[in-house]
Amino acid sequence: MPIPDEFIQELKARTDIVDVISGYVQLKRSGRSMMGLCPFHNERSPSFSVSRENGFFYCFGCGAGGDAITFIRRIENLDYVEAIKLLAQRAGLTVPEQGRDDGTGRLKTRLYEANREAARFYHKQLYSPSGKQALSYLRGRGLTEKTIIHFGLGYSPSDRFELVNHLRSKGFSNAEIIQANLANESRKGNPFDRFSDRVMFPIIDLRGNVIAFGGRIMSDIKPKYLNTSDTLVFNKSRNLFAMQFAKNKADGRLILVEGYMDVIALHQAGFENAVATLGTALTQEQAMLIKRYCDEVIICYDADEAGQKATARAISILRPTGLRIKIVTVPSGKDPDEFIKSYGEQGSARFAMLLDRSGNDIEYRLKKLRSRYNIDITDQKVGFMTQAAFLISEIDNPVEQDIYITRLSSELGIEKSAFRQLVDRSNRKKAREHIKFEQRQAQEKMSAGKDRLNVQKHYNLRAANAEEAILALMVLNPDTASYVASTLKSSSFVTDPNRRIFEVLISKLENSSEISLADLSGQLTQDEMSSLARMLASRPRENDPRAAADEYISVLLEEGEKMTPEQMAAADNDTIMEQLRKMKEKKQ
Ligand code: GTP
Ligand code: MN
Repeated sequence: MPIPDEFIQELKARTDIVDVISGYVQLKRSGRSMMGLCPFHNERSPSFSVSRENGFFYCFGCGAGGDAITFIRRIENLDYVEAIKLLAQRAGLTVPEQGRDDGTGRLKTRLYEANREAARFYHKQLYSPSGKQALSYLRGRGLTEKTIIHFGLGYSPSDRFELVNHLRSKGFSNAEIIQANLANESRKGNPFDRFSDRVMFPIIDLRGNVIAFGGRIMSDIKPKYLNTSDTLVFNKSRNLFAMQFAKNKADGRLILVEGYMDVIALHQAGFENAVATLGTALTQEQAMLIKRYCDEVIICYDADEAGQKATARAISILRPTGLRIKIVTVPSGKDPDEFIKSYGEQGSARFAMLLDRSGNDIEYRLKKLRSRYNIDITDQKVGFMTQAAFLISEIDNPVEQDIYITRLSSELGIEKSAFRQLVDRSNRKKAREHIKFEQRQAQEKMSAGKDRLNVQKHYNLRAANAEEAILALMVLNPDTASYVASTLKSSSFVTDPNRRIFEVLISKLENSSEISLADLSGQLTQDEMSSLARMLASRPRENDPRAAADEYISVLLEEGEKMTPEQMAAADNDTIMEQLRKMKEKKQ
């Protein structure tokens, strides 16, 4: 059941997009709009614009755009109805009963409920006779009762039907259980438990919903960990284990570790700002999530080779976000959990000391770099200094640069000024590269290249530009909208994506005299919203919108008569001659 338009209007009237977005992005006024750093991609100079007047945002860097609803959907990873609910809550409105849930919204709710029920079930099993071994396993690994409860740990029984039967008895359908990935489907189509005879770690999102599980086997059988595959409510590259706790304890910094057990051991030892990825390498989306809650990350991965590789990878993902990065290397090849445990009561104090001694990523990378060279040999020493200079030139702050230059030159017994020259050369090279990068970005902004949605635009540039101008005019000028609606047929559109948007606008005009973006986010996809926001953001204000509309309509009609490259290829000779004749006529 769709949410009534009147409610959306009311919500729109009570929602100030600048207010909403300010909760996530620092905005500064710039001409008619507000600008900030885009929360949807990594950037250092702001290309994210918000227009209070027109109620939309648009990023010139990555092309994300839309209204307040689209923004909330993207940043909170919600569906349309959920985003409306969140905005309504902010505005002190109640979403009307009939509009509460569309199809996927309802299914999502069911999957959340199934996961929550499964977590309860697994937890209870831990204290049943069959869970005895699992419970003593967890205790054997040093977890207290309080920790087991705090994390809601559990046990999945070895019989492959217990969870399925339990959920069925609670009214969940086979389809729901399978869609939540709590069960797999047998060849005959019957569900059987996905997890069996494993210690269970529930994965919980920022709003407290159980969305997935990790299950650890208690023997040497592989795989050691089994995780929920992605579902409608779970995306492993967008969530972090224990973030629901850590976000409130971050106080500016988060500790990133590799394993669930590391997180749990750290929380138990009082480091409640520890999080882990969900069995995969760190993603950009996770980096942006981290950035929302802190300005410093301490990477504390395993000391083995795989862990060190993962550290290098994580640095390369985190650095562009502007987060300060520190690296802790746990001694004697231990992971954080083993380290803490090995010191018994002193574990917590010892780990705090490690944190204190942690170096930033430049320091870490210098150390790694140095281990690859034998600096007693002149050639290699020069090689090391050149590479080190390159690394140091990545530091934005000149004072910090100077600290490293002073330290390294004294350690290696070379003239500080000579080393500084090397760094400066590197600095200049970096600056040149940066300028080139910005120029390229600026060019991209200007060109049609940014349009992922409309691939036809490339071949029909003039028509597509006219279409976009028309669509923007319709949204920005109510009078023009009804004029265009009565003058232009959707069949005159040349590119399909723009035609679709046009048809949605027209259908809106049947019930209302003007169109606003907020009315559209129910019917347009997120990509379509972005596309429309781009059209609006790049439009100058028209003095005479009606005349402008006439102009663009005539361009569009003219272009519509031309053949597309595909039509041209398929056409017979007569048709092509006719087309050429028409074109000549126009030119005269
Ligand atoms: P313990 O051995 O119980 O201490 O686990 P750990 O947390 O130290 O695990 P480890 O360092 O071996 O792995 C780190 C993380 O990688 C785990 O928490 C899992 O998320 C993931 N992982 C490890 N083994 C597997 C596996 O076999 N399959 C999958 N999908 N993920 C795994
Ligand atoms: Mn471990």
